[in-house]
Amino acid sequence: MERETIIVLDFGGQYNQLIARRVREMNVYCEVHPYTISLDKLKAMDPKGIIFTGGPNSVYEKGAPSVERELLESGIPILGICYGAQLISYVLGGNVEAASAREYGKVKLEVVDPESRLMTGVKKESTCWMSHTDYVQKMPEDFKATAVTKTCPTAAFENEEMKLYGVQFHPEVLHSEEGNKILSNFVFNVVGCKGDWKMDEFVEESIKKLQEKIGNKKVLCALSGGVDSSVAAVLIGKAVGKQLTCIFVDHGLMRKDEGDQVEEIFSKDYDLNFIRVNAQQRFYDKLAGVTDPETKRKIIGEEFIRVFEEEAKKIGSVDFLVQGTIYPDVIESGLGDSAVIKSHHNVGGLPDYVDFKEIIEPLRDLFKDEVRKVGLELGLPKELVFRQPFPGPGLAVRIIGEVTEERVKILQAADAIFREEIAAAALDTDINQYFAVLTNTKSVGVMGDGRTYDFTLALRAVTTIDFMTAEFAQIPWNILGHISSRIVNEVRHINRVVYDITNKPPATIEWE
Ligand code: XMP
Repeated sequence: MERETIIVLDFGGQYNQLIARRVREMNVYCEVHPYTISLDKLKAMDPKGIIFTGGPNSVYEKGAPSVERELLESGIPILGICYGAQLISYVLGGNVEAASAREYGKVKLEVVDPESRLMTGVKKESTCWMSHTDYVQKMPEDFKATAVTKTCPTAAFENEEMKLYGVQFHPEVLHSEEGNKILSNFVFNVVGCKGDWKMDEFVEESIKKLQEKIGNKKVLCALSGGVDSSVAAVLIGKAVGKQLTCIFVDHGLMRKDEGDQVEEIFSKDYDLNFIRVNAQQRFYDKLAGVTDPETKRKIIGEEFIRVFEEEAKKIGSVDFLVQGTIYPDVIESGLGDSAVIKSHHNVGGLPDYVDFKEIIEPLRDLFKDEVRKVGLELGLPKELVFRQPFPGPGLAVRIIGEVTEERVKILQAADAIFREEIAAAALDTDINQYFAVLTNTKSVGVMGDGRTYDFTLALRAVTTIDFMTAEFAQIPWNILGHISSRIVNEVRHINRVVYDITNKPPATIEWE
């Protein structure tokens, strides 16, 4: 393979694709594989460098994920992160043990060997992100520490000759100030990559792979009108044209007027078969009386599939179902070894008796911003590509408690005002996701001379890069005040508006 490739070996940590994303941002192709991949297979991919990720285990536990010593001695440059660093040390005879206290959060990192290739140009003192209990108490022979923290004498260590590097902190997360520099030092200084890979290659390759896989068969695409499914649809459309039918299920849980907008764009602008199914009432019926968020997701996911099956029958036999699943959906559904946080309906909620032969997820390895790059590469309109993300189960997870048509209408009206005002204040490009949540709390208010007893609406707005961590947006008070007064004046049944000032973590972006 002439294309330079870095392989990320996944040991089950939260940030594995994030590492791959960081590498791809440096215009170096990068794939994630499970640590269980055989050495032969790994070598056959001819990686220029390998990165071991973090993971939840302790290297010294029986049966803990490991690698063969042969890999470490192969001469392929390896960077171990957290668990990965401990593993390098452990396999080569160093000692790893539990520290007396867990080191978690932002910690001061001090470079003690600026000559290290990994530390070239890294500030002597910077903040790094730590999350570990174990640490490398004694490095293997011929290794030296290149950076330390107050409590960790082996925050970074290496054996330059063996091209083995370990960092106890997480350079891939944004809280590590010099993280990107360190990763880029690994990719360019240690591995010697050129960095000439681009997203257009991903697009070309995806189209080729899709054509090979699909052949002359028929494909059905779950189009939601969001960025992900739209990009997935157009990608497949470019690959197989009218063999693709896009079914847009209007589940009645979209933002105000959004159904019509999707129809407008896709039925006019693209060379694919587009069908809109007005299934609003079906979803409201199924959701009647349901209050548990995960049950809502499951019901919506299943109903989606039912609708697809019905449409698929109408258009004849269909071999593939496309879904716009992206990487954060996968990780948060707990596939692989990462902890389960939420079951996103487009990953976790598929019933067993799906009639389709296979599911294709062309964006499964990509982060949101990468999906957007693909979208632009495919010539999709900017308004669509930069549309804020919207969960598959739609407003159902933004209505706390039971979902009814009336509540959907209330929320749609309030949410539309919020979005309109954010755009009017030119904040829409700075805030990555913003929406209204209809709570099930009712409180007393006064309207004119009368007493009201109506719903509290919450406004949520966050800035984030990868949607895995997020900060609440600091919208100026006067703008919030104006939005609040418009909403209580214009939307019936809302008499109180609150603003959510919680970051993620500990809160999630959505309320359900
Ligand atoms: P959370 O709430 O987990 O959200 O911080 C992270 C991102 O994922 C979106 N999200 C979903 N997307 N189906 C989806 O397709 C879902 O069930 C779902 N739940 C959350 C959320 O809007 C945010 O962008």
